[in-house]
Amino acid sequence: MQNLDGRNLEGLPAREAALKMLDAILRRGQTMDNAAQHAKSLPPADAALASAIVGETLRRLPDIDALIDSATRLPLADDAKARMVLRLALAQKIGLGTPDHALVATALPLVDGGPRKLVHGVLGTLLRKGVPAIDLPRLPQAVYERWTKAWGPAVAAAARRAIVKRPALDLSFAKDDDYPLGTALAPRQRRLDDSSSVAKLPGYDDGGWWVQDLAASLPARMIPAAAKRVLDACAAPGGKTMQLAAASHDVTALDRSESRLSRLSENLARTGLNAKTVVGDVREWSPDAPFDAVLLDAPCSATGTFRRHPEVLYRARPEIIAQMVEFQAQLLLHAAEWVRPGGSLVYAVCSLEPEEGEAQIDAFLAERPDYRLQPAAQIVDGVTPDARGRLRIVPGMIEDRGGLDGFFAAHLVRSGD
Ligand SMILES: C[S@@+](CC[C@H](N)C(=O)[O-])C[C@H]1O[C@@H](n2cnc3c(N)ncnc32)[C@H](O)[C@@H]1O
Repeated sequence: MQNLDGRNLEGLPAREAALKMLDAILRRGQTMDNAAQHAKSLPPADAALASAIVGETLRRLPDIDALIDSATRLPLADDAKARMVLRLALAQKIGLGTPDHALVATALPLVDGGPRKLVHGVLGTLLRKGVPAIDLPRLPQAVYERWTKAWGPAVAAAARRAIVKRPALDLSFAKDDDYPLGTALAPRQRRLDDSSSVAKLPGYDDGGWWVQDLAASLPARMIPAAAKRVLDACAAPGGKTMQLAAASHDVTALDRSESRLSRLSENLARTGLNAKTVVGDVREWSPDAPFDAVLLDAPCSATGTFRRHPEVLYRARPEIIAQMVEFQAQLLLHAAEWVRPGGSLVYAVCSLEPEEGEAQIDAFLAERPDYRLQPAAQIVDGVTPDARGRLRIVPGMIEDRGGLDGFFAAHLVRSGD
């Protein structure tokens, strides 16, 4: 209900938070999780609404901007508050089906004392004309060009289809399960169509499973079963650590972030799995003895996760990707020192940028001739390793079964025994 000064409108706090979040992501390059701090004082339903509005905005931003530009005489600056408010309002119309009166009533107070008339005019014009559905959004131009060049137009087109589909819920299991849930696309994995209420699913309280995209579950499966001592070098929050522990390896989980590592410990406690946890930086830490296998799930641009985190399409600018490539190269060279002769190094990134995947491994192999590529096995039907045995997952793969995140993983074996 609106009170006399117009500030107490139902749904307004969620839109105010959404505006701050969108600004933090687009202008300051924050992640959605960090930007969500702006909604943390709201009741959970409002905070969820703020995130949903921002998510829908980011999924369709180029098309929404084109709509806005079609209704203004002079183009609004990219970071103008009026453009931000219009983006949020149109995203609610297109992605959430918010009624016109509600989106106008919650948009205008956001520009009080500013370009209220302009926002009102543009919204009125567009709503009268009829706002199109935008079921096949455009990718940001830079991303479209990058992915078309790297993977071809069919993959870029599949990414456009994927961006507005709600991803399935993938669960990883600690044991060969008999839970009556969804369908299995790989061993110890189940896929559910409805991701709405994780904590109510059977088995949650027993800790028999955890949420993990199918693609993210593949690198840990590349660690040889015979490897006894395994280091998970960038381990938190621990999806892969749990897989490795469940596969009976003796696991050390290293991460430089204490807070993320404490989430990993909570995850281990919930699932009743064991691993030794160590707070440390890969570039400074060193083990007492070499490992039979090291998994390096390196920090990256995360562009492969664009279905759940559409902000990566805007955050991962070329200079960020270049910084990541440099950082990953350092981590790889350190991790390579900790593998015993004849042991395995599995490198993985949830990135769709070849510089962080294929080219990174080529550069590593040029520097470390004592390592060679070990072809990955086929784990999921339709997710076939490339000609050199590396696992490259791109949009469009297993699309008929719900698709999966973009990913890269390579298994490297150190010479000698
Ligand atoms: C992609 S996430 C790992 C996800 C994790 N493997 C999983 O499956 O849940 C990358 C992790 O690397 C950690 N990290 C980044 N730089 C690091 C460094 N120099 N040394 C150790 N950990 C690092 C981050 O804190 C983050 O938790």
